[in-house]
Amino acid sequence: MEVRKICCIGAGYVGGPTCSVIALKCPEIQVTVIDKSAVRIAQWNSDSLPIYEPGLDEVVRKCRGKNLFFSTDIETNIKEADIIFICVNTPTKNFGNGKGRAADLKYVEGAARMIADVAVGHKIVVEKSTVPVRAAESISNILQANLRESVSYQILSNPEFLSEGTAIEDLLKADRVLIGGEDSPAGHAAIAALSSVYMRWIPAEKIITTNTWSSELSKLAANAFLAQRISSINSLSAVCEATGADVSEVARAIGMDTRIGPKFLKASVGFGGSCFQKDILNLVYICECLNLPEVAAYWQQVININEYQKSRFSAKIIESLFNTVTDKRICILGFSFKKDTGDTRESPAIHVAKTLLDEGAYVHIYDPKVTIIPSLYCTEFCVDESQIREDLSHPSVTDDPESTNQVVSVFKDAYSATEGTHAIVVCTEWDEFLTYDYAKIYKGMMKPAFVFDGRMILDDVALGKIGFHVHTIGKKIGRRANFSRSWGTLPHV
Ligand code: UDX
Ligand code: ADP
Repeated sequence: MEVRKICCIGAGYVGGPTCSVIALKCPEIQVTVIDKSAVRIAQWNSDSLPIYEPGLDEVVRKCRGKNLFFSTDIETNIKEADIIFICVNTPTKNFGNGKGRAADLKYVEGAARMIADVAVGHKIVVEKSTVPVRAAESISNILQANLRESVSYQILSNPEFLSEGTAIEDLLKADRVLIGGEDSPAGHAAIAALSSVYMRWIPAEKIITTNTWSSELSKLAANAFLAQRISSINSLSAVCEATGADVSEVARAIGMDTRIGPKFLKASVGFGGSCFQKDILNLVYICECLNLPEVAAYWQQVININEYQKSRFSAKIIESLFNTVTDKRICILGFSFKKDTGDTRESPAIHVAKTLLDEGAYVHIYDPKVTIIPSLYCTEFCVDESQIREDLSHPSVTDDPESTNQVVSVFKDAYSATEGTHAIVVCTEWDEFLTYDYAKIYKGMMKPAFVFDGRMILDDVALGKIGFHVHTIGKKIGRRANFSRSWGTLPHV
């Protein structure tokens, strides 16, 4: 089957970059990304894309209007497509059965019903969103139950492994492309058609095919393994802080063992992002439903350690600041869940901010992208506070959003954000944080001035020489920073 037109439902972090790269590498295929949000589509068609992703602007600029389109015309594009990608969001359910754990498949089902309503001819429907095992079967059931004359479908699972911040690079040089499908002649033909798209730039040996369920489970398993490594190193960071071992040295030493490898061993304030927590919770829920409580408990522990790490880090800030942050000004540097993205979903910075707010602190926030994300409604360099304010007004963070809003200030640069504060808390590993004049920052801060480095990016020795009390995750607290312990709780500073 020759693929001429691809349509993608969902113009988000997965659909947008994935289809942009497909368009780049397959100039003879027309790729259209559709979304029910007209605002999102307008942003994709503007000079200010709705997501920040290094390299994405260039790819979109090259292809948009040639073989890459962003549209709200769902019906025409589904009708005309040979392959339809489903790239909609699958958040954790926040109601009913499986609340807080199971994936909410309402958007996937909505997309399947849209296809069922309008499709004509033969369609290959590709599930790209991360879904629970056997979700393809649900999509298939919906499509088959609404089958009209002369319409036929093949459902494939083709999970996306891109990582935000390196999405373009990950898509261009994928470690592997995984395609799961039905073991039948029609299933094999669909797999071959989708493989032919990727084979334009991915070596054939990196395109692996499996049955649909293995493919679905592999995506959950990959994220669970990655998150598990972070929780493992984070658990050791607590041991390091208590003993004098240095977690970076431990990570280096174990990472040089080729069986372990060096990646994903960076201790941090905790992992965030839209995938890790959601996918592990989903895996835990599946295991419970399959009556595998021991397996469920095993994976649940990865989440528990992540919660522990975020709480431990936040508690350390309060303890070091003489056991009270009430009325103190604390500056959070970095609000996105990792560098090179403006995405704040499940960002550990939210957890840290919540703890500080609960304890009565004034919270200053600066993030190079979350706050300065270009949008249709704001010129390139204006500060857009909306995302941070939305995150910190969420019912899981506060039951009094108005008061919270008043004690949170969002800044356009780090120097003004740190001015007059008692402490800096680094929550995201943005490169620009390494370039600051910390002596200048120190001068503008209250004394003693503290730095809590939740990403191990700053030079603690150099900062110590300036006069800062530094706490770095995974490092035993230095003599200067131990100040609070030896002095106990001080009256108001
Ligand atoms: C992840 C998977 O990597 C990707 O394959 C999948 O498709 C989607 O989920 P993403 O969430 O975009 O990607 O980012 P990732 O780089 O995996 O980082 C997730 C979180 O872990 C971030 O908060 C990051 O800061 C943290 N992290 C990562 C660490 O704390 N230490 C590390 O060593 C690596
Ligand atoms: P992800 O990180 O998985 O890409 P996002 O939330 O960034 O998730 O993007 C998902 C997109 O899917 C959103 O822009 C949302 O509007 C879109 N979407 C969800 N359901 C539908 C649907 N039935 N039809 C069209 N677009 C949809």
